[in-house]
Amino acid sequence: MKVAIVGASGGIGQPLSLLMKLDPLVTELSLYDVRSAPGVAQDLSHISTNSVCQGFEKEEIAKALQGAHVVIVPAGVPRKPGMTRDDLFKINASIVKGIVTSMGQYAPQARLLIISNPVNSTVPIAVETLKSMGKLQPGNVMGVTTLDCVRAETFLAEYLGRDKSECNKDVSVIGGHSGNTIVPVLLNSTLREKLKPYYQEFVHRVQFGGDEVVKAKAGAGSATLSMAFAGYRFANSILRSLSGEKVSGVPTFVYLSGINGGPEVKSKLGNVEYFSLPVFLSNGTVSKVDLSILSSLSSQEKELVKDSVRQLASNIEKGKKFALGAK
Ligand code: NAD
Ligand code: LMR
Repeated sequence: MKVAIVGASGGIGQPLSLLMKLDPLVTELSLYDVRSAPGVAQDLSHISTNSVCQGFEKEEIAKALQGAHVVIVPAGVPRKPGMTRDDLFKINASIVKGIVTSMGQYAPQARLLIISNPVNSTVPIAVETLKSMGKLQPGNVMGVTTLDCVRAETFLAEYLGRDKSECNKDVSVIGGHSGNTIVPVLLNSTLREKLKPYYQEFVHRVQFGGDEVVKAKAGAGSATLSMAFAGYRFANSILRSLSGEKVSGVPTFVYLSGINGGPEVKSKLGNVEYFSLPVFLSNGTVSKVDLSILSSLSSQEKELVKDSVRQLASNIEKGKKFALGAK
């Protein structure tokens, strides 16, 4: 399978490209960036795994995207201390719109995985851009929220002294990808009881884990290595699904209209148009959202979902307006 990474020379792009080079499901790895991607690709091409790796830059995006099954986008500027993800909108909105326009032209069939922030707005930008080109397949556009799940698993394991590699069965994360829009959900009522003394702290760390990294990096950017791990984990689910495996329970931020189960989520949550929920994947596409998580929420989780939906509405509207209005 051909995987294209757009923004491949960056802090996330490079380690993510390395992880994709190690994945036996990838036969062709295509790296694109406005700078330095041929160098990154040359370096990776010496690794003795069987995929072919090529780099493209500047006006070569068509070659980079053509024939891609999966396009992963970690292009755009990261935060500095004191900034919110929404502060990145001014620069990243146009970057994402430009890349998605190219994708609509050269790889309209590809599964599109968006990492660039603010995800709550860049995914609506991607959807509206493809819609206006007549190229939208709603199940193919996915906002990557896996880092929130990875953090929730890690922090939960740390609070409860459990095995980190087992915690993906204990917790999921729904909602959006910024501050209060992020909603960790415990999947097991016994753990809920055990976590009680640390619950507020746990929720805060999951919602503001990105800020911990931005602060510690002190101006040198945001999470890159943990994001590469999370981006790889999500992309690998898509590749496994593309190769015929049944994959489910993977949360991603999706456009609910046009996806099975989406309209039910919309009416249940007060008409929110995009939401991250565990999904069923089929042939690398979101075939259905898994509603079941919404029926087992605790009263605290229900309150968090309400806050999330309230804030998401304005993030989504901002992305939609930009896609429809900006050149
Ligand atoms: P970075 O600055 O290190 O890398 C970004 C790369 O994008 C650079 O190499 C740059 O040249 C490239 N780029 C810029 N415009 C481009 C274009 N039009 N086409 C192709 N490439 C282009 O930044 P980073 O730390 O890798 O972060 C990238 C983005 O990912 C940021 O917006 C950041 O906020 C976001 N992010 C999201 C998550 C998440 O959970 N979804 C996690 C971490 C970071
Ligand atoms: C994260 O959650 O680490 C990313 O969204 C980057 C950021 O700006 O915090």
